[in-house]
Amino acid sequence: MTSPENKTYAQGYHPSVTRSHASRTVSTDAAFLLPYLRPNQHILDIGCGPGTITTGFSAYVPGGSVTGIDVSAEVLDQARALALDKEVYNVKFDTGDILSGLAYKNGEFDVVFCSQTLCHLSDPVRGLREMKRVCAPGGIVACREGDMLFRWYPLTHGLQLFNDYMAKAMFACADRQYASIGPVYRNGSMMHAWARKAGFDPDKIMKGASTTVYASEEERKWWGMLHAERVEMSDVGRKFREAGASDSELVQMVEALREWGNDVDGWYALMQCEIICRV
Ligand SMILES: C[S@@+](CC[C@H](N)C(=O)[O-])C[C@H]1O[C@@H](n2cnc3c(N)ncnc32)[C@H](O)[C@@H]1O
Repeated sequence: MTSPENKTYAQGYHPSVTRSHASRTVSTDAAFLLPYLRPNQHILDIGCGPGTITTGFSAYVPGGSVTGIDVSAEVLDQARALALDKEVYNVKFDTGDILSGLAYKNGEFDVVFCSQTLCHLSDPVRGLREMKRVCAPGGIVACREGDMLFRWYPLTHGLQLFNDYMAKAMFACADRQYASIGPVYRNGSMMHAWARKAGFDPDKIMKGASTTVYASEEERKWWGMLHAERVEMSDVGRKFREAGASDSELVQMVEALREWGNDVDGWYALMQCEIICRV
């Protein structure tokens, strides 16, 4: 059950939302963790979504196990179907809400991972505390979160509107103390500070970053159209409306995203913050 404090995951599960999650793999989104994995480890993936990263971990722990958890039973059906399709048998998926406390014992896992989940929690510090609890002494808690905002070239008016409403919508779901540095909305780049507040020893938090870049014709068309569809048809558009977007602004955003997708000079980047915390 979702805790009352945890406002619903704002982006929902429209195919335009889960399609981008399902494009993520261990090599694109968990490369920073791979050197630490050992064959017999037990891994927990929090907010695993459609499970492409989760399922990818299984080859790294053939003598261990991988468990994915998510608040959404709906998205876990996709994850289970993927594991079945790939014939991966040391992975399982459970419904669970990190903010309500997980049904696992203290220290049950060697590695506790999450990708793009903390930034969607109203209280990421509480989430990290729970990740620490279920991680064994000597184990690893590893997290990767984008640092808003998206960088677009060219930054047209419609894309600036998109960035502004994305920040407002995410800010509305977060506890303010965990979502701002001065007047600027931020998330991933605060993660190491959330981890320290959650009780991790700052000397045992490794802080790194990598980037996601979309610039080829294929990437631009995919990313631009996907976001246009999110604004038009998914909970993202609804959240933008709740944050004050007018009909005409929504149309401007959709048109700008489509134009960007077709612009030969179009370029997009997001800084991905990564932490490895030793328990
Ligand atoms: C942006 S998606 C990331 C999915 C996947 N980890 C990835 O990187 O593609 C965030 C996921 O976190 C899940 N989530 C949100 N709040 C949660 C909570 N309190 N406990 C567990 N999962 C949660 C959502 O349902 C969603 O599937």
